[in-house]
Amino acid sequence: MRTILPPFLWDFALHLWHSQQSPEWEHIPEGWTYADTHPEIAGWDVQSVVDVYRAKWPAFAAAVQSRRPLDFSHESPAFTGGDLNAHNAAMTFGYVLGRVAGDRSSLSLLDWGGGSGHYFLLAQALYPDLSLDYHCRDLPLLADYGAQVLPEQTFSSDDSCLERRYDLVMANTSLHYSQAWRAVLGRLAQAATGFLYVGNFPLVADAPSFVFVQRAQAYGYATEYLGWCLNRDEFLEEAARLGLALQREFVYGYAPPIHNAPGQAEYRGFLFRAGNTD
Ligand SMILES: C[S@@+](CC[C@H](N)C(=O)[O-])C[C@H]1O[C@@H](n2cnc3c(N)ncnc32)[C@H](O)[C@@H]1O
Repeated sequence: MRTILPPFLWDFALHLWHSQQSPEWEHIPEGWTYADTHPEIAGWDVQSVVDVYRAKWPAFAAAVQSRRPLDFSHESPAFTGGDLNAHNAAMTFGYVLGRVAGDRSSLSLLDWGGGSGHYFLLAQALYPDLSLDYHCRDLPLLADYGAQVLPEQTFSSDDSCLERRYDLVMANTSLHYSQAWRAVLGRLAQAATGFLYVGNFPLVADAPSFVFVQRAQAYGYATEYLGWCLNRDEFLEEAARLGLALQREFVYGYAPPIHNAPGQAEYRGFLFRAGNTD
């Protein structure tokens, strides 16, 4: 086989074979430089992710608008329910939104890594009388798709969204995809006049922060991506250094086993009051 394939195709076939043999979640001891030598780490800005989001959007929107429990995520293969992690994520977001809104009838929200705006649909369904000035920042392909399906909301794929302030800034299952997570957290904190919600991301209690890969082919995404599993104390120390005041910690019930990891990852989240008052 090797003799009949050009070298780049051989490398690609080898990587494909390797990814099929490998666990979905795996510790990457060498850290973020792993992506330099592994072309299968294509990250999130790939067409197959948009294609899956597009295929599922109508069913997700219909399910959210119904009166059923929100026990499904937009990533569920079918919206059959029974996903208590998704339910915890949706209800936690509902609590956060209610806490931030108080008795106000409108608020501004920056959804960092918000995909095509699934949480805008959740917000509308949970608080139909709340007027939301919704801004979503994601990578170019998803931001473009979001602007197509929610043309009245604001989508961006650059940091211009950080030039203004919001009542609520949230990063739900997204901060850990940034190698420079401290810098991103700092900029999100700066953009929040009221609250910052860093939701549903992997933390480890009894080991230093580490990098892992998720091989996401099972979800129809032809990609793999790296992420941080941050040490919980390290994350909270950085948040405190930035002047963020913890209001509530959340747990969702999701703890995927990461092959060869130095500790057990558990998805947690935090609502902070941000220091900015203007
Ligand atoms: C697991 S999805 C979460 C989507 C949504 N926030 C939710 O909770 O359902 C991760 C999201 O983070 C986005 N993302 C990854 N890296 C990013 C970056 N550097 N800047 C902004 N968004 C990013 C991905 O494109 C994707 O939409």
